[in-house]
Amino acid sequence: MAGELTGKVIVLTGGADGIGRECALAYGREGARVAIVDRDLDAAHRTAAELGGDSLALGADVSDGEMVRIALTAVLDRFGRIDAVHNNAGISSPSKPLHETTEDEWDDLQRTNVKSVYWTTRFAFEALKASQGCILNTASMVGLIGQAEHAAYVASKGAMISLTKAMAVDYASYSIRVNAICPAGVWTPMLERWCAEQRDPDRIRQYLDEIHPLGYCPHGDVIADAAVFLLSAKARFMTGCILPVSGGAELGYRR
Ligand SMILES: NC(=O)c1ccc[n+]([C@@H]2O[C@H](COP(=O)([O-])OP(=O)(O)OC[C@H]3O[C@@H](n4cnc5c(N)ncnc54)[C@H](O)[C@@H]3O)[C@@H](O)[C@H]2O)c1
Repeated sequence: MAGELTGKVIVLTGGADGIGRECALAYGREGARVAIVDRDLDAAHRTAAELGGDSLALGADVSDGEMVRIALTAVLDRFGRIDAVHNNAGISSPSKPLHETTEDEWDDLQRTNVKSVYWTTRFAFEALKASQGCILNTASMVGLIGQAEHAAYVASKGAMISLTKAMAVDYASYSIRVNAICPAGVWTPMLERWCAEQRDPDRIRQYLDEIHPLGYCPHGDVIADAAVFLLSAKARFMTGCILPVSGGAELGYRR
């Protein structure tokens, strides 16, 4: 799919590392100009340097509306347009049932994973209207089927999925498409941290292979390929789509 995104300006949150970094590199290969918005500015600069060309690294915490506003203003100052916003930045801790989750942990998760979508939409909407652009949300399979001991995270990803559908309906009349990708497990720094927190990390690594009927826990390239597709003209009649990119994990069969 060479050049599927040629000339597009894509704002990608959490693009410095993990799934976001793979998406940034894939968008760059397809000809897009990528603005990485990440709270880790050094890592964002490293990924932008790998991209080369016309990319931008911006330091911002996506849970902070003023920081998001400043970052999106900088994107518009630099490129003059926004064709897509990929809301990918997210956190997954704590691994706890709801009654053990502190108010701060709950608020952090909802602000980072859900309210961030509100902020990017508020501040990018006029630009997306002008470009008849796209919004893409990195949700999660657990937002569809639940997960033990991650109530606040599951709630945040369920909210992202519902928001995707609501926004798709609201924005269709502006020709803005809104879709979501639901990974199961993907090897990233986040998943490595999660494994390290579990009682038996080696068993968990094997478990992560087994939950995917296709037989392995993937790296972020599989998500990036789906993201390129959803942002490209090949997906021009797709909106409100909640796309599992999960090796069939949500089907419930284990190897
Ligand atoms: N890795 C998985 O198995 C998996 C599975 C399903 C869904 N997801 C989702 O995919 C997305 C990316 O996850 P990942 O595994 O690549 O995570 P990661 O922790 O490996 O990378 C996340 C990136 O987002 C940035 N980030 C985190 N919080 C931020 C904030 N408040 N403001 C700005 N930047 C912030 C980090 O600095 C980092 O660069 C998340 O939304 C996550 O919930 C991941």
